[in-house]
Amino acid sequence: MRPPFVGFIRLLGLLVFVSACCCSSSPDGSTNIEKTLAIIKPDGLLGNYTDDIKRTILEYGFSIVKEKIVQLDETTVKRFYAEHSSKNFFSSLVKYMTSGPVLTMVLEKDNAIADWRALMGPTDASKAKITHPHSIRAKCGLDTQKNCVHGSDSPKSAQREIPFFFKELSPDVITQHDEL
Ligand code: RTP
Ligand code: MG
Repeated sequence: MRPPFVGFIRLLGLLVFVSACCCSSSPDGSTNIEKTLAIIKPDGLLGNYTDDIKRTILEYGFSIVKEKIVQLDETTVKRFYAEHSSKNFFSSLVKYMTSGPVLTMVLEKDNAIADWRALMGPTDASKAKITHPHSIRAKCGLDTQKNCVHGSDSPKSAQREIPFFFKELSPDVITQHDEL
């Protein structure tokens, strides 16, 4: 007679196989679950686009891991966008980002950083309306400054930006590359 655990082992093997087939996103069978920082900027929040944007985020398979509404002050915006401090639009960017509350969110999914940037669309919302009409910036942004949403532009940026707003999340949990 066959020992009872043989059936159990077979069932376990089947489950591992099925989950590998369903959950892997790369041909080599690996997943690249990432977190990224998203911000709905003051024009998005004040223009009542928040519910639409969050619905789109969920439809595209992201989960919203954390979220909070904050009113940014000048010092915080200057630190957050420090890479642009020498640009001619910096003071105007600071004024825009402090003009009202923003909604900061941590989004998570496979390839979240690039996928969220793609869903946002190009920086210049007026161009996005022509080239990327289904993007979020095309729908709720106005121009090259008032573009409604922010997204981390690389894993390195996500590692800096997520703990910037959510101190309870340490940089090492941002990217998680799992070999299946
Ligand atoms: P973000 O950092 O907010 O996700 O935007 P981004 O990567 O698409 O664009 P970036 O070059 O990092 O610029 C940061 C934000 O600065 C404002 N901006 N104004 N007046 C201008 O020429 C100008 N250029 C950029 C925008 O709000 C832009 O998102
Ligand atoms: Mg940027």
